[in-house]
Amino acid sequence: MVELALPKNSQIKKGKRWNERNGEGNWKEIKVYRWAPEDGENPRLDSYWLNLDETGPMVLDAIIKIKNEIDPTLTFRRSCREGICGSCAMNVDGSNTLACTKAIDEISGTINIYPLPHMPVIKDLVPDLTHFYAQHRSIQPWLQTESTTPEKEWKQSHEDRQELDGLYECILCACCSTACPSYWWNSDRYLGPAALLQAQRWVADSRDEATGERLDDLEDPFRIYRCHTILNCARVCPKGLNPAKAIAELKKKMVERRT
Ligand code: SF4
Ligand code: SF4
Ligand code: FES
Repeated sequence: MVELALPKNSQIKKGKRWNERNGEGNWKEIKVYRWAPEDGENPRLDSYWLNLDETGPMVLDAIIKIKNEIDPTLTFRRSCREGICGSCAMNVDGSNTLACTKAIDEISGTINIYPLPHMPVIKDLVPDLTHFYAQHRSIQPWLQTESTTPEKEWKQSHEDRQELDGLYECILCACCSTACPSYWWNSDRYLGPAALLQAQRWVADSRDEATGERLDDLEDPFRIYRCHTILNCARVCPKGLNPAKAIAELKKKMVERRT
């Protein structure tokens, strides 16, 4: 039988306890994955206690409070604080989500926070998304046309515009791709749910005139066909989108044009 073991330096060690409950209040423990490339140490899970009576309602409020008041070395990304920029995506309580829209009171017991899974880590909760963005770029996410450019704008009927609903709202947070088992094992060649949902966003756009080339580009055993409809992507999308459905639409178009 094959024995699989994690490399020694990837095992998560017990971390530092930065503080304890301190007096009356609604205290909650938050455990956060910590790793820095420069110290040569294993990753660890550090513990922080917060009085929720003095903390904002969202998980992002908690980690900002930890950084401001307990541990300034804690590193994470965030920008808009309202579920628009996608930068605070992380794994909270076992599921990929946006820290700024995840309410603390939805989580019972200790809150465990990790970076998005199966991505290289730059530091603490910051994953390296270079490859993810390169994959997005590879589907050419911009309008491509051959017709003469109109003087004012490319017009679209109300019905055609509605075809983009469920696609244009994607904020490229990477929650879906990093929850997809097929992407974990084949991300070098499989584009993953986020990039494929974007591919469908342009294929579905009535103004775009490069549909044939876009579908040609996906005709490959890996780029799209590694999706096995496991549906983790739809389960975790914080914007309520369904990348699996978008992938199915793309596959359908690819079959239709062969017949
Ligand atoms: S489809 Fe949803 S989970 Fe995936 S990148 Fe877009 S917003 Fe994030
Ligand atoms: S449905 Fe496809 S893209 Fe979504 S999690 Fe499953 S394999 Fe990945
Ligand atoms: S901070 Fe922008 S989505 Fe959370």
